Amino acid sequence: MIYMDNAATTLKKPDEVIDAVVNAMKNLGNAGRGVTEASLDAARTIYDVREKLAEFFHAENPARIAFTMNSTQSLNIAIRGLFCRKDHVITTALEHNSVLRPLYACEEEGVELSIVGCNDKGKISYEELEKSIKQNTKAIVCTHGSNLTGNILDLYKIGEIAKKHGILFIVDASQTAGVIPIDVQKMKIDVLCFTGHKGLLGPQGTGGIYVKEGIIIRPLLCGGSGIDSFNRKQPKDMPVALEAGTLNSHGIAGLGAAISYLNRVGIDVIREKELLLMWQFYEGIKGIPEIKIYGDFETSMRCPIVSFNVGDIDSSKISDDLSFYYEIATRAGAHCAPKIHEALGTKEQGAVRFSFSHYNTKEEVEKAIKAVKEIVEGYRE
Ligand code: ALA
Repeated sequence: MIYMDNAATTLKKPDEVIDAVVNAMKNLGNAGRGVTEASLDAARTIYDVREKLAEFFHAENPARIAFTMNSTQSLNIAIRGLFCRKDHVITTALEHNSVLRPLYACEEEGVELSIVGCNDKGKISYEELEKSIKQNTKAIVCTHGSNLTGNILDLYKIGEIAKKHGILFIVDASQTAGVIPIDVQKMKIDVLCFTGHKGLLGPQGTGGIYVKEGIIIRPLLCGGSGIDSFNRKQPKDMPVALEAGTLNSHGIAGLGAAISYLNRVGIDVIREKELLLMWQFYEGIKGIPEIKIYGDFETSMRCPIVSFNVGDIDSSKISDDLSFYYEIATRAGAHCAPKIHEALGTKEQGAVRFSFSHYNTKEEVEKAIKAVKEIVEGYRE
């Protein structure tokens, strides 16, 4: 199989990630729940990965990072735990349902929501975003990169806007963590939500949330913390405040190995390779008359994603053909991103999404281009 669905999850992981998970499964006890060597080893492993993540995202302190199982959980923690009735929150049309659905749930409870639209290239207007800010605006919640178009939002610019108006800045880094450098301090991010299984190259079921010093989030989950057991309430200090229950130390060990791999190889090197493959694919298919590609390809800083349609053919037919006849894995349909599909007019058709990994090769991309050309020719006849 040629796997080109890396925006859904990166299938190929570095060997050291797999080794770290296996080793953790053989050796780690329950972190913070005892003083046996196995329990202490789990605690040490988790602390070590927390430190690595803090360094990776330039958090002021490792304790400001709590582990979760994915971006969705992190976003629910942030969105459900920060907003109250009558707060106004701004988001964008680029968002995934992991942002939109918790916001809609808040809306039902009296939170006011504004969604900044996008143009036909999937780009938002930062002026419109700023103009949406009102007296009761509590936060801007937005993605760093669209999982449909691969377009990137300028977090430096949005962070400046948020700070200027004294509102919170919450970022969904699902598509960019491990691909594009993120510095929570320089970008003025208050809450960063990330998943481990995409660009970070870690196992599924891992992820985290960075919460800036001084911000208190009502916990989504309460439960065992290993400390302060006679307190009826969840301890308030980070990271325990947001980490009720036994952590996924096995997955976290894998995520730690993945961060070491990214640091060793360099995310700039990885991104450069992925973007080269993306441009090769883009150039290879863009001239096909029936093909319409979505997104902004006039910029060099983007996620390695190319989404397109062939005439008015249902995207799932093209994706099925790629899988069945060529063993090429892509994702069709709506990608859990309803607003941008509506904006681009692809609500019914969806889109065929190719997303690249640095483990893909030029030869694979050549095969993918040939496959797309043959499929299009087949529909032409
Ligand atoms: N959110 C993931 C995607 O874009 C699963 O495919």
